[in-house]
Amino acid sequence: MTLDLEIFWPFPPVDWRLGPREVHIWATALDQPSARVSAFSDTLSPDEHIRAGRFHFDRDRNRFIVGRGWLRALLGQYLGCAPAQLRFDYGNRGKPAISSPVGPESLHFNLAHSDGLVILAVTRLCSVGADVEQVRRIDDAEAIAERFFSAQESAGLKALPACRQSMAFFNLWTRKEAWLKATGKGIADSLDRVEVSFLPDQPARFLRLFGNPNTAQEWSLLELAPALGFIGALALPALDAQIRCWRWPH
Ligand SMILES: CC(C)(COP(=O)(O)OP(=O)(O)OC[C@H]1O[C@@H](n2cnc3c(N)ncnc32)[C@H](O)[C@@H]1OP(=O)(O)O)[C@@H](O)C(=O)NCCC(=O)NCCS
Repeated sequence: MTLDLEIFWPFPPVDWRLGPREVHIWATALDQPSARVSAFSDTLSPDEHIRAGRFHFDRDRNRFIVGRGWLRALLGQYLGCAPAQLRFDYGNRGKPAISSPVGPESLHFNLAHSDGLVILAVTRLCSVGADVEQVRRIDDAEAIAERFFSAQESAGLKALPACRQSMAFFNLWTRKEAWLKATGKGIADSLDRVEVSFLPDQPARFLRLFGNPNTAQEWSLLELAPALGFIGALALPALDAQIRCWRWPH
């Protein structure tokens, strides 16, 4: 159980609302008391119950239920509807979007989890992608870098002192993944052509998208530090979004 997660983000103000250019990013723990798991479970749709039932271990099943139940609870608050009333459609790579009681363009969202932490980005502005990872040592980091990172990124990563490599690796990973999730593609084949900044002391930004620096400038990229030991990224095809990061207050 990850009951000792140290989430850095503050609680939201009581009167929070979503402004037209705002992106809200929420964080909470996936390991929740059993009464809450059960309450979340009651809000899930039949297909989500089938998915939950496929997990072999209780902890994984409960984490899935909490992720989905929490997503429904928060989206229900934005839309003023009961969590169980929400219906989702899925893109051809599995990206969920709201299909009822409003259309997919009314509210965009993207969820990401790693170990016991889950984050959710919500906005009215445009499609959005979020990723989060627990920073850890990766045994096959070089092979992954060769497959998903550009030659320049792999060389830059290798040249770093060992103590900075994990952070730089996960900067690359989460920033590319956030782009992938914003587009809803879910295929990692061309990620070496999504070039991002990644040095731990540099601001997050897209450098070139498929060789094009101008297209890269039409996107925003943000580094997220939701909790001790975790880093993440948010990507969206818009500029001047106002980002608000909050810890779920329950
Ligand atoms: C979904 C995907 C994009 C990422 O999966 P992941 O890292 O395992 O999971 P995350 O925690 O980031 O996100 C999962 C959530 O994203 C959403 N999601 C699912 N498919 C998605 C897609 N194609 N695009 C955007 N969001 C998606 C769902 O809400 C999902 O939650 P659920 O598992 O509770 O249903 C997956 O298709 C994938 O495996 N991508 C390639 C991974 C890779 O090789 N990356 C290399 C990075 S350098």
